[in-house]
Amino acid sequence: EGSLREAAARCGNARKKKVHVGAAIMPDYLNQHYDPYSAVLNREFNSVVIEHHMKWKPLLVGGDEGVYDFRPCDKIVDWAIDKGMEVKGHTLCWHVTTPDFAEDMSASRLREALYRHIRTTMGHFYGRVSSWDVVNEALCQDCSGRMEDNVFLRKLGPGYVDDCFRVAHQIDPNAKLIYNDNKGEGAGLPGGRSRKADAMYDMLKGMKERGVPVHGAGLQGHFTAAGTGMRRTPTPHSVQRQVRRLGELGLSVNISEMDVRVAGLPDGVDGETAQAAIYGDILEACLTEEAFDGLTLWGFTDLHSWVHNFYEPDSPLPWDQEFQPKRPVVGAMREAL
Ligand code: XIL
Repeated sequence: EGSLREAAARCGNARKKKVHVGAAIMPDYLNQHYDPYSAVLNREFNSVVIEHHMKWKPLLVGGDEGVYDFRPCDKIVDWAIDKGMEVKGHTLCWHVTTPDFAEDMSASRLREALYRHIRTTMGHFYGRVSSWDVVNEALCQDCSGRMEDNVFLRKLGPGYVDDCFRVAHQIDPNAKLIYNDNKGEGAGLPGGRSRKADAMYDMLKGMKERGVPVHGAGLQGHFTAAGTGMRRTPTPHSVQRQVRRLGELGLSVNISEMDVRVAGLPDGVDGETAQAAIYGDILEACLTEEAFDGLTLWGFTDLHSWVHNFYEPDSPLPWDQEFQPKRPVVGAMREAL
């Protein structure tokens, strides 16, 4: 049967381009159940992202702008590197985890604080973290195509996105710099369901035309098997189209935070079957595109998923609460690779 990591290695060899299969992890979970948690991670994945602790606010001690505590992240980064895994940095600029002091700063002071944060964080992980979600979710959540009305837009103007990438590129010219967002995974869908995908494409096209050093696009992939309307999971073909056109801009594309909620499925529809189809078919569709370079799960075990806190109890991930693989789901992903 083999692991996803072995399948990804074979797939990467066949494509002559490394394919990452990753999971988002938390320091506490690694501490709590080191054995089963680290065993699955080390066996199944060749890449990790730190789910929360590498963001701006969680890195600061006592909210003080200049006092960073990198220890929780260093523990995971060094553990992952010791296991031969890559680490993707998430995320340097995201309004949701920006320190509270940002709202009280003048524009010039905020610009200085933001750049200093990018320099400090990328500098600290220099040589250990080779790809970064530089800006996360700068586009409006209502899929209007407008930019999110956050403190950066209000004080620094729309150019803050370009500026973050230019600063990041100065610090590490070899890093892969990624723009990450959600609800923009499917192109060409009816009923306005691709508005955000179009907005993401248009924004990245503009950045490339301005010579902004952006190298990748992250499609978060938080899907809902029972979703309807705008929340319907995009078809594999529509995701393939989005990967293709982003690739035509010269970008590499990854699925960055995949989970598939199954709460609310109609009676008689089996959750694992629905998940297997979505995880497997979307991964298969993405892998047909040369620009696609991998998939990261947002967590990997149902025991720990942000979905429980941010939505409702669910079982969105390919491993169950006992760290056992959901065979149809993991099998479908392995077959796709
Ligand atoms: C979430 C984490 O999973 C939570 O633990 C944390 O409390 C909030 O952030 N999109 C993103 C991720 O880009 O950073 C978010 O992660 C989920 C939504």
